[in-house]
Amino acid sequence: MRVKTGFLATATVGLLMSSMYLALAQRPAPAGTAEPERVGGFVPGQKRAPIDPVLAAHGKALYGVNCQACHGKDLRGGDMGGPNLLRSQVTLTDQNGELIVPIIQGSRQALGMPAIGISIEDSNAVAAYVRSVIATIGAQGTPPGKQEPPSIVVGNATDGRTYFASTCAKCHSAEGDLRGIASRIVDPKQLQATWLMGGGRSGISNGAVSKVSVLLPSGATSEGDLVRMDDFLVTLKSGDGTTRSFRRNGDLPKVTLTDPLKAHKDMLSVYTDKNIHDVTAYLVTLK
Ligand code: HEC
Ligand code: HEC
Repeated sequence: MRVKTGFLATATVGLLMSSMYLALAQRPAPAGTAEPERVGGFVPGQKRAPIDPVLAAHGKALYGVNCQACHGKDLRGGDMGGPNLLRSQVTLTDQNGELIVPIIQGSRQALGMPAIGISIEDSNAVAAYVRSVIATIGAQGTPPGKQEPPSIVVGNATDGRTYFASTCAKCHSAEGDLRGIASRIVDPKQLQATWLMGGGRSGISNGAVSKVSVLLPSGATSEGDLVRMDDFLVTLKSGDGTTRSFRRNGDLPKVTLTDPLKAHKDMLSVYTDKNIHDVTAYLVTLK
C-alpha cells in the first residue's frame, strides 16, 4: 500500500510527548528491584526469555505512536493496512528483537512498511512489547486476554459470506451444521477461535472423529470412524453402525488415519487478515 508517512509524522509529534510521559509514569518500581515478569512462550515448549516490564511499558508507548495506525491497537491489523502481528511468523519467533528490529529500521520498505524513525534501542523496546502481548495469547488467532478491543467484529459480512461459499461450504452449511452457531457461541472472540481451529479452543480435535481405513490382506479396505487404536488392535465403526476390530502386527494391516481437522489446520496459513475478519463478521450473523 501507499503510505501517508507525512500524516503519521505530524500526528506523531504531539502524541509522543504525552506517551513518553505515560511510559515513565508507568514504571512499576525503581530499576533493579523490579522482578522481570515470567511469561511463557507462545509455542508450547518454546519458552522465550522473560520480558523486562519497564522495557515493555516503554515499548507500548512507542507502539501507540509509531505502529498502531497500521497494525492496530490490539496488534490485529489496522486501518492503514499493516498485517496482524499476532499471527506473524516474525513476531511469534522473535527472541530478542533480531527479527522485528530490522523491519522497524526499514528492511520491508519495498513491501509497504516504511522505515520508522526510532533508535535501535527504542525499536528493541517495541519488540519487547510485541512479544509481551503475544505471551498473553490463549490460542492462535485469539486476541490477547489482558486487552479488550472494543469489538473484534470489524469485517464485511457480505464478503465473508462469499468467502464461506467458496472455501467452507464444501464441508459446512449455514442452514445445516453451522445453523445458529452464533447463538451457541455468543462471544465473537470465541466464535472466531472456534472456526479458526475447527472446534476445541486449543485446536485439539474435540469431538471431531478421526476416520480410519484398514487395508486387509485380501486387498479390500474397511473404513469408518475410529473407535480406538493401540499397538495390537484397531477398532472402527463403519457407516452401517457395525463395529469391527482388526488385530495389528507391526505395519500389518496397513492403517490410514485421517485427521478431520487437517483442512482447518492447513487453512490457517492461507487466510489473509481480511478473510478472517470477514468470515467472523458473517458467522456472527448466523443466530
Ligand atoms: C505505515 C504503515 C506501517 C507502520 C507505521 C508500521 N508498519 Fe509494520 N508493516 C506494515 C506493512 C504494510 C507490513 C507488511 C510488509 C510485508 O509484506 O512484509 C508491515 C510488516 C511488519 C512486520 C512483519 C510482519 C510479518 O509477519 O511479515 C512487523 C514485525 C512489523 N510490521 C512491525 C511494526 C512495528 C513494530 C511498527 C512500529 C514501530 C510498525 N510495524 C509500523 C505497515 C506499517
Ligand atoms: C475439508 C472440510 C472442511 C473445510 C473446508 C472447513 N471445515 Fe470447518 N470443520 C470441519 C470439521 C471436520 C470440523 C470438526 C467439527 C465436526 O466434527 O463437525 C469443523 C469444525 C468447524 C467449526 C466448529 C463447529 C462447531 O459446531 O463447533 C466451525 C465454526 C467451522 N468448522 C467453520 C469453518 C469455516 C468458517 C470454514 C471455511 C473458512 C471451514 N470450517 C472449512 C471441516 C471443514
